[in-house]
This record gives sequence, C-alpha cells and structure tokens, in this order.
Amino acid sequence: MNLKKSISFLLLLALAATAGGQTARPTQGAARTNALIPVPESVTFKQGRFPLKNRFTIAVTAVQDARLIAACDRVGARLSRHTGLECSTRAQSDSGSADLVVRCGSQVPQFPVLKQDESYSLEVSDRQAVLSAHTTDGAMRGLETFYQLIEADHDGYFLPAVTVHDKPRFPWRGLMIDSGRHFMPVSVIKRQLDGMAAVKLNVLHFHLTEDQGFRIESRKFPKLHEMGSDGLYYTQDEIRDIIAYAADRGIRVVPEFDMPGHSTSWFVGYPSLATLPGPYKIERTWGIMDPAFDPTNEAVYKFIDEFLGEMAALFPDPYLHIGGDESNGEHWSKNPKIQSFMKEKGIKDNVSLQRYFTERVAAIVTKHGKKMIGWDEILSSGLPKGIVVQSWRGQESLAEAAKQGVAGILSSGYYLDHMLSAAQHYAVDPLAADAALTPDQAANILGGEACMWTEYVSEETVDSRIWPRLAAIAERFWSPRSITDVDDVYRRLDLVSLELEELGLTHETRMGRMLRRLTNGKDISALQTLVDVVEPMKIYHRGENHPTNQLSPLTRLVDAARPESLTARSFVALVDGLLSDAPRFKTNNDQLVAMLKEWRDIRPALDVTIATSPLLDDAGPVARDLSDIGAAGLEAVAFLSSAAPPSKEWRTSRLALLEKASKPNSSAVELAIIPGVRQLVIAAAEIPELKNSAHSEWKKRVKLLATEKPASPGK
Ligand code: ACM
Repeated sequence: MNLKKSISFLLLLALAATAGGQTARPTQGAARTNALIPVPESVTFKQGRFPLKNRFTIAVTAVQDARLIAACDRVGARLSRHTGLECSTRAQSDSGSADLVVRCGSQVPQFPVLKQDESYSLEVSDRQAVLSAHTTDGAMRGLETFYQLIEADHDGYFLPAVTVHDKPRFPWRGLMIDSGRHFMPVSVIKRQLDGMAAVKLNVLHFHLTEDQGFRIESRKFPKLHEMGSDGLYYTQDEIRDIIAYAADRGIRVVPEFDMPGHSTSWFVGYPSLATLPGPYKIERTWGIMDPAFDPTNEAVYKFIDEFLGEMAALFPDPYLHIGGDESNGEHWSKNPKIQSFMKEKGIKDNVSLQRYFTERVAAIVTKHGKKMIGWDEILSSGLPKGIVVQSWRGQESLAEAAKQGVAGILSSGYYLDHMLSAAQHYAVDPLAADAALTPDQAANILGGEACMWTEYVSEETVDSRIWPRLAAIAERFWSPRSITDVDDVYRRLDLVSLELEELGLTHETRMGRMLRRLTNGKDISALQTLVDVVEPMKIYHRGENHPTNQLSPLTRLVDAARPESLTARSFVALVDGLLSDAPRFKTNNDQLVAMLKEWRDIRPALDVTIATSPLLDDAGPVARDLSDIGAAGLEAVAFLSSAAPPSKEWRTSRLALLEKASKPNSSAVELAIIPGVRQLVIAAAEIPELKNSAHSEWKKRVKLLATEKPASPGK
C-alpha cells in the first residue's frame, strides 16, 4: 500500500467511524476492525481471542475429501506466509488438539453444482477454531471467513473469539471474463479464480468465442482455433486444468459460445456457416458486427451439434451458454435465400428468425444433456424448461422472465468495463425491491454475474479492472439484502485488496510498472499524483475519444488509471464535511487545503515528466486542468473561510473552467475531483444567501448545492 493510499484509507476509516445514518454493521458488541467481506448472515464477536503463537495445525474430520484437504493446505500456506508460523493439515477421525478443526458432512460432488449447500458455521474460542459444514464447498467458504478473521496487534497474531453462521443469499454468483477480445492467459484466469474464491463467488462464465477471436481448441473442427485466434487459444488440456483449478475452489465453469452474432472468428476457417459468402478475417475493431450464422442452412445445425457435443463432453457443468446477444440481422436481410425461407415458414422478422435459430440450438443443447443459458435476447416461449436467462439490458427482463417461470441472473448494473464506482455496483440488487414478485417467482432469480468485457482491457490491466470492485459485487450476491453501508464496504475493500494482493493479484502493483514504463524509468511521483485523481471515461466513451482496436497497446495514462479514484472519493468526503460545517466552514479545512495545494503546485513537475515521455502526449491538458482546478478550489475554500463572497465574474469563470475540464478529450480520462471542486465553488458563490439564513436553512441549502446538477457557465 503506498503512502497516499494509506492516507486515504485512514481518512476513510475516520469517516466511516464518524458516519451517521443507517448502518448494517456485522459486528455485535465489538469495536474491532472487522474485515469480513462478504458480510456473513450472522456474526457475533465475543470476549477473548485465540492467539496464533505456535505451529498451526488443521485437522479434517469426518469426510476425507481430497478437495477439502487441498483447500485446508492452501489456507494453511496462506496463514503460514502471513503469520510466519509453520502450518500442517491432517486428515483424522477425531479433532484432538488441532488449532482448526474442519468437520464436513458427507456430500462430496467432484464438481460443484448449482444450488448445493454452501452453508457453514465457525466457532472460535480462546483455544480452538471449529468449522462445520455439510459440503466441501460450504467448508471452503468457511475457510475464507476463517482467513479474513486473522488480526495482529502488539501481542502478535490472533483470531477474535466469534460465532459465525453463514449461507449465501443467491446460489449463482459469478464473474464473466471475455477472453475473445483480448486473450487472457491461463495464469491470469487462475489468479482471478483465487480472488473469486476469497470473496465466495462460485461461477466463472468463460466467454470463449467472439468476432475478434476463437479461444478454444476444437479437435473436431481445428480450423476454428487455428484460423480464428492468432494462435491465442486454450488447449483442451488447459481448459481441463482451469476447470479442475476452479472446482478445487468450489467454482463452476460455464463456457459461452456466442451465436448467431458475435461470430466472425468461426467463419475465418468455416465460411460456409455464415449468412454471406465471405471470405472472413478476424475482426480487429469493436462494436456490433454484421456476420451471423445462416439459420436456414441445415449444415449449420449439424456443425453446431458436433461442436457443442465436443464441448459438452469437455465442460462438466450442466449449463452451457449460447450467447444470443446483439445479432443485428443485417446479413440476414441481405440474403435472398433467407428472405424466401422466412416467407415460406411465415417468419415475420429477424427477431423471429433468431427465435427459430435459438429454439433449434436449444434442442441440440438438451440433446447433449445440458441446460441452456443465454443473454436476455433469447427469451421466448418455445424454449425448453430449465433454461437460464442472463439479463444485461435491464432488470425488467429478469423480473419478466421470473414471472414466466424462467430462471435468470442479473448482469445489468455489474459491467466492470463501464468503469463505475464500487458504490454504484453495490447499489444494484439482483432482486429489485419494486419487482413485485411472489416468493416462488423471486426464487427464479438465481443471482448475478459481474461482466469483464475486454475491448479496453489487456492481460496487464485486467486485475485492476476487476479488483477490488468485484468484492463489493460479491457481497451483494452473498450477504443479506440489509447489508448496505457504503462507507463500510469501502473500508473493507481496502483490507481485502491486501488479501487479494497476497493471492497474487496485481491490481495495485502493476500501476507502478506502467508508470515507470510511461516515464522511461524517470521519477514517477508527479505522474502518480495525476493518475490518482483521474479515472478512465465511463461506459464506452473512451472509444469515441481515443479509438483503439485489438492491435492497439493498452499502455497509456488511461490504462494505468484505476476505474475509481479513492483519492477523489476521500476528497468529496472532506468537501461534504466542510460544507456541512456551515456557517463556520472549518471542519476538514486543513486537509482540503493540503490536497488542493498539491494539485495546484504539481504543474511544473508534471510538465517536465510529460515533456520527456512521448506516450504521455495527451496528458498535458489534463495536467494543466488539474493545476487550475486546484487553484480554483483553494480560492473557494478561502472565500468560505472568510465568509467574504466572491464576485459574480469569479463564479462564472471558475464554473466555466470546470465545465471545460469536464469535456471529453483524447486522453480518455476524467478528472474525478471536478464534482468536489464544483461544490466548493458553488457554495462559495452562495455565501451572501447562506449568511442571511437560519442555521437549519444553511444545512438544507448546502445539501441542495451538493446534489445540484452541473450548471452551464454564466448561469
Ligand atoms: C452484451 O453485453 N452484449 C451481452
């Protein structure tokens, strides 16, 4: 953790400690730093602690399952590295004097399955920890809780005395990784699986085929991966290895083979499957492409049958994802043979034609003993029972499906590539409060999946795009609905971030490497200050302002920036504190002034860095804006402190500056501190009005200012 991060962490801690309002704290009667994420269903801290002083022993009693022993060995190795103690695991029939006793019931499926019992209980006394579960997967979830309980103080490492009873709110808690746009090597996938297990996620949805790449070896149709992948694909042995690695961590692997659209890479080797003749080449750009399977060609269904048969044998999970999203029908409309097929069969439009295709593919999936899952475009009444719909276009289709008795998972609101804050994702619940579902219908909502699409994400940056925000989403999927304290989740994200780093995730460490590369090995401190207050443009606006394709290196400032600036978050919290302290405007004043001064004065050092770093050519305007905005913020704080109002011209020109700095630019980053400075400027300009109000009016007015939409300059 770097110094800045530590400071922001401490600030957040202080803020969390003083935050009022509704909290749903997991602790009862204990003032400790509870790091648990996701928050368990029930946790009661007690007096006392279990000191970790000697060699640590883990005893696995009852079922002697190899997966469970391996999981205990892994957590033992982590404990050992973390505490410096030696650790060993034994399978034995009695608990003896072991430090951690793991009692597991009799259900031992080789691969995890949907809706299996993941509950566990954990009891830590001053002498021993006892973990009980019905299944290996439940025990694995409990082992993660056990690990997160480890604390240290001047007396050494210890576990607090505690009783935990826990089970997930939703059975399907996933992460989708798109290896199609940018290939993610096996080691990258494995470390995501480690991170997922740490926060109790249980599904890796593996998006394996895209317009831009066919990423899995097919022995039946080798031209798929040989011609459609640039040589970047997973062999079947590697896939088996990933599946086993995931199963060892209680994680299912659901493969996706996207059709009828998003399918260009299939056609590079097998153009006769496509609607128009081709030839086809691997797509390098991003967007919705026209190529699609020909739904009127019987040879297409024979091919899909053989291919999915091969894949059904490779992937043990009962679910198989057939995509179905964003098929635009452009090529279908251009093919006269398809047009006459539609007339002959009474198929009125392309949506109905896709329904025909999906129903044919669903029959193939069923024939191979699998249940079909697809994006919400697939929803139609002709599909077999047992399908799952993955809603990415909104929560309404999920509720609609649930009402029709169709199971579903939510991804709308959990797109990690949108570069939104953890708080924004955390606020989305798979079961919307206003969905008006009966309990039976609500049970059709199985959970959710975060989505890591990779148009703008490389193997170098993927960890930072997933973590730690995914841990907040994981909590939403696991913990009771009532757990909604945003400040507290940020406090725990900071802690779990360290745990994830210990597991090998590079979401923090890779930034230093990227900055050193950008500056050609020179001092990165000024650039670090800049990168800490910028965020990549949200949703997909990056593409409009700095277009890239599959061959573009993702190594610029925008790629080094975190999706969410915690420095900006701390800053906004300080601004809120200052404005709430009306009419004195003293609280947080010193810290705010220190931050604003750093930004105002950073310019000369940044100018030097940028001038000699060719890849930072687009960062100059952002650096200048940062400096000007820092100065404007300082002026605003000075006006507030003196309670002397600024001129109208000052307000107009400073708001214009902020407006200009908010405009998209070719660096494709946003200065995340703009909203906070804007609040300061508006509040300063309102001083005469505020001065004449009663104290309660001050507060109301300031609250209003804080939520006001950006005004146009001069207004
Ligand atoms: C999707 O985002 N096209 C599923």
